Amino acid sequence: MRVVSGIQPTGNLHLGNYLGAVKQWVAMQDEVQAAGGETMYFIADLHGLTQWIAPATLNANTIEMTATLVAAGIDPERSILFNQTRVPAHSELAWLLNNVARVGWLNRMTQFKDKAGKNREGASVGLYDYPVLMAADVLLYNATHVPVGEDQKQHLELARDIAAKFNMDYERELFTLPEPLVSKEAPRIMSLRDASAKMSKSNPSEMSLIKLIDSDEVIADKFRKAKTDPEPLPDSWEALEGRAEARNLVTIFAALADRTPADVVAEFAGKGFGQFKPALADLAVAKLGPIRNEMQRLLDDRAAIDAILARGAEKARALAAPTLRAAQETMGLVA
Ligand code: TYM
Repeated sequence: MRVVSGIQPTGNLHLGNYLGAVKQWVAMQDEVQAAGGETMYFIADLHGLTQWIAPATLNANTIEMTATLVAAGIDPERSILFNQTRVPAHSELAWLLNNVARVGWLNRMTQFKDKAGKNREGASVGLYDYPVLMAADVLLYNATHVPVGEDQKQHLELARDIAAKFNMDYERELFTLPEPLVSKEAPRIMSLRDASAKMSKSNPSEMSLIKLIDSDEVIADKFRKAKTDPEPLPDSWEALEGRAEARNLVTIFAALADRTPADVVAEFAGKGFGQFKPALADLAVAKLGPIRNEMQRLLDDRAAIDAILARGAEKARALAAPTLRAAQETMGLVA
């Protein structure tokens, strides 16, 4: 079992990333390693380039994201933690896979459509080709499992299609087909202002997302002002059908508390959001505050963070080399 996953350094870690992906990454360190497997997590800084970002910001975010992941529980002694740029095989394999992936497949990617918006002609080629780099990220290590939020599932399915086509075209079982693992508790955390949109760093409203660097007061304030409806909570999860904002807050509560949404609804049945929101804010502060404090402590020693990334990349390069070499051989680039 080899678990591989990544995160873009386009902003601070937010609650959607944390509950949808990173919390699973941390849990998997123990489970996978107990079973003799390996966990690899990386900062997708090359993906970060697909939409304009100031160079100094990208650099600072990569360091900050690394500190946040370590503070959230990714142990660089037990997991391989690195950034893509330091492992050139990601870019090299992506180019090889560009010749396997089909334009028709990329045309179906909903994230490109969302991110490019109306100005598709003006989007970067990188944004369009982004899922092929993502396929390279996981196929390079023959990842068996890839823990992601629901929004990345389509990209993982594309990675499987690319792997299968490569194996078929070249009549060689080189690549392992990776399995996406989507968190059951928090597949999709939605915006606190509009529960029809996912919580995302690209949302212009600061109030729509909880960042892991937010102070306790800001976290509490954002939950207090989160959009809800005037009804009290019902006595079952099913009865929340059609109340997207309420469902989102219950989902967040349950994921933070490691409880089921049904259990949370049962506890608050008949109570209004005037009672639910402060309880949610307290829980979030209790869970996220220590991560923020630890991240700030780690950020005081940038050299130590840089050393973590350098060591992680060295290990990743060693694991990547044989796969890249085998792909080059298979395609006739080297003998
Ligand atoms: P990114 O940086 O947008 O998000 C990192 C992880 O967080 C999950 N996520 C969410 N989950 C639930 N609710 C949300 N509102 C929410 N927002 C984000 C994402 O699904 C993701 O798992 N392309 C990837 C990064 C990447 C990658 C990879 C992932 C690059 N290469 C290879 C896995 C394997 C991305 O942009 O994620």
